[in-house]
Amino acid sequence: MSRLSSLADSINSAIDRQLAVILGEELPILKEIKDFVIQSGGKRVRPLLLILLTRSFGCHDENAEALAAITEIIHASSLLHDDVIDGADERRGQPSGRALFGNQAVILGGDYLLACGIERLNRFQDQRQMDLFTRVIKHLSMAELLQMHYARRAEITLEIYQRIIYGKTAVLFEAAAVSAGLYAKQSPEILQALETIGRDLGMLFQIRDDMLDYFKASLLKKAALTDYDNGLYTYPVLELRERADEKTQKELTRFMELPRELRSDKKNHQTFLAFLQQYDCEKHCIDRINQLKRGIYLALQALPPDDHIDLIREQIERLTDF
Ligand code: IPE
Ligand code: MG
Repeated sequence: MSRLSSLADSINSAIDRQLAVILGEELPILKEIKDFVIQSGGKRVRPLLLILLTRSFGCHDENAEALAAITEIIHASSLLHDDVIDGADERRGQPSGRALFGNQAVILGGDYLLACGIERLNRFQDQRQMDLFTRVIKHLSMAELLQMHYARRAEITLEIYQRIIYGKTAVLFEAAAVSAGLYAKQSPEILQALETIGRDLGMLFQIRDDMLDYFKASLLKKAALTDYDNGLYTYPVLELRERADEKTQKELTRFMELPRELRSDKKNHQTFLAFLQQYDCEKHCIDRINQLKRGIYLALQALPPDDHIDLIREQIERLTDF
């Protein structure tokens, strides 16, 4: 097993331990939701980023692990809520929270988890950490609202899309990186580099997710073209719109405006995928991802060299190995 994989495993166990302590279980349903969150954990990329960074700064302790767990709690509650918004019955190839417990219970349960995370964060008595993560929670809500507003709407621009993915994904990656720096009492210059690294890694991660939805959904353990079915203009579609001839552009708008049942029939899937292929959209996504990657690698050079930073690079290489 590689050094990264074995370290990721031990970090995962540490996060599980922290989640067990931080999340309450004051009612049977809350205990069930807590167990679900711990057992159905995903890749844990946000806490892994935070821990690799704190260790690179020489901090190796339970408080850093608690901070990492807080990033996972915010992520997990956003997923509970997101599946309600999207009406999704599966996540990571398994039944979603809302499929198991119902919409009402997971909305309230998600809020409860968030409050548990904030309660733990408060114990750091660090105003900057508090500001950092409350800002994340605001952005997560705003991004879902913006995404809902612009679903099926051709008025969306690349700039608006970037605001959406910043709020739904990048802002939490950014906070994970900056939080590590604050905890390890790093200089303003290092904090600045961490902000860039976290934000752009989050942007990369979401554009990758948006690309895989069309071109390799199996890697995401979900059905292909779910963003398309939901009428979401994501990066591959915006690239297509940018490059397509006028006729194809009109077709694209028409497809997106169709009622969901019509848009998502099999023949429309094939036509839409053929548009994307015709204009090489997968390659344009990969180009954008590689551009972000170069910026992240540049910013990583500002950090004190350490083998944990090499592991971050290794993780990025894995994410971008298409
Ligand atoms: C999924 O995030 C939602 C996005 C922000 C793209 P992850 O891919 O990190 O989800 P899990 O936790 O590993 O399932
Ligand atoms: Mg969603």
